Amino acid sequence: AAPRSLTIDGKKYPTDSWTNVPPTILAQYGRRLHVQPNHPLSITRKLIESRFPGFRNHNDLPGIVTVHQNFDSLGFTADHPGRSRNDTYYINKDTLLRTHTSAHEVDVFKANTSNGYTISADVYRRDAVDRSHYPIFHQMEGALTWDRSDFKTRQACVDQITTDFEKLPKHDLVVEDPNPSFHAERNPLQEKHHTPEEAEIIGAHLKRSLEDMVVTIFTEADKALAAAGQGSQAEQEPLKVRWVEAFFPHTSPSWELEVWWRGDWLEVLGCGVIDQPLLVRADVPDRIGWAFGIGLERIAMLLFGIPDIRLFWSKDARFLSQFDEGKPIRRFQAFSKHPAAPRDVSFWLPKSNAPVVANTPAAASSAPSPAGGQQTEPSLDGAAPVFHENDLMEIARNTAGDDVEDVKLIDDFVHPKTGRRSLCYRITYRSLEKTLTTEEANALHERISQELVSDFGVQLR
Ligand code: PHE
Repeated sequence: AAPRSLTIDGKKYPTDSWTNVPPTILAQYGRRLHVQPNHPLSITRKLIESRFPGFRNHNDLPGIVTVHQNFDSLGFTADHPGRSRNDTYYINKDTLLRTHTSAHEVDVFKANTSNGYTISADVYRRDAVDRSHYPIFHQMEGALTWDRSDFKTRQACVDQITTDFEKLPKHDLVVEDPNPSFHAERNPLQEKHHTPEEAEIIGAHLKRSLEDMVVTIFTEADKALAAAGQGSQAEQEPLKVRWVEAFFPHTSPSWELEVWWRGDWLEVLGCGVIDQPLLVRADVPDRIGWAFGIGLERIAMLLFGIPDIRLFWSKDARFLSQFDEGKPIRRFQAFSKHPAAPRDVSFWLPKSNAPVVANTPAAASSAPSPAGGQQTEPSLDGAAPVFHENDLMEIARNTAGDDVEDVKLIDDFVHPKTGRRSLCYRITYRSLEKTLTTEEANALHERISQELVSDFGVQLR
């Protein structure tokens, strides 16, 4: 039976029908990889922080927050899909493991101790299992505001932002920015709060600042590639980025920044002009400005060439000893290539199961943004739980821990006569530390298969 309460960091939390945080996640709570000396996530964090001089860096904000902090304070609507128990780890109906560093925006704005700040922290999402997704990852939030009440006129504030914009470092990056600064339907100006000039100059300052940060990161990554004899990308093709319109409840207009890297457009961050009602709620109604959120794992993976997100959690000296914050960035040297053990599980879903919702593609972080997923509340009538893809992800993680590398849907069909639906998932087992025996892989797979039967009433094929 589920425990009546959970004790985390010495604090006791009552549980209820919303509780869905598993012991495996709680066991890793508090590792604080982003501040461990010489850890690649810490090196990445410091590199980004260095491009925002004068910002106050908050690196110690605890990961258990209220539903209010994580969603309501940011203007998420009551029916926003990000609140779903399929995507979010709840301690209980009012308390959760933060899904993004934005959860602290209102509190930090309220404290009002600096114009610019960053917040780096561990964040938690129920999500896919593969080499770039892990249920715990790290984000950095950055924000900069100007106080209109410091100026005689609103125009004087715009002039100040313009001056600040002109002082930002210049770069020779190729930037594609085809969309207007704001767009009535797709990416609206907050016309009750901002003049078009205000939104435009805040957006320009935001974009230039983030382009500068990206130039720094990718130049370092390219130098490391060249030093490792793997060829410089920049020599063949100049670095290029593009701005894509986006949607976040807490910014408008909003964008995502994508970088052309080794033949693909890579989503790097989400950002926008801060929602003014948010600043009103934070008791700083005269401040205007921008915010961004970036996933640190994804950046660290390309900076160092780290091939698997599980490695960040490794305590193996063969991993940790490769990083030194006092030295130029070096490419990671793989130390183990243990064989993969793929196993398939096929099953019929019970008739009562709602359509299976698959995970949406990644957003500003290593995982889908709170905007992805479906709404599900705990069923109170005792009906069999509905299977969602993330349930299998979690069973696999809880059973095989870091020995599961990837879980992928490979077949999905509906029987033409009976109308029953069959799914087949390929689960790839591989340890980063040792070779798994056939028996070990089989045993893990058998336990996962049986749990699907007992928890979701599926019929194995
Ligand atoms: N909180 C957003 C996410 O996790 C990222 C973001 C932060 C977007 C700040 C805009 C401003 O997806």
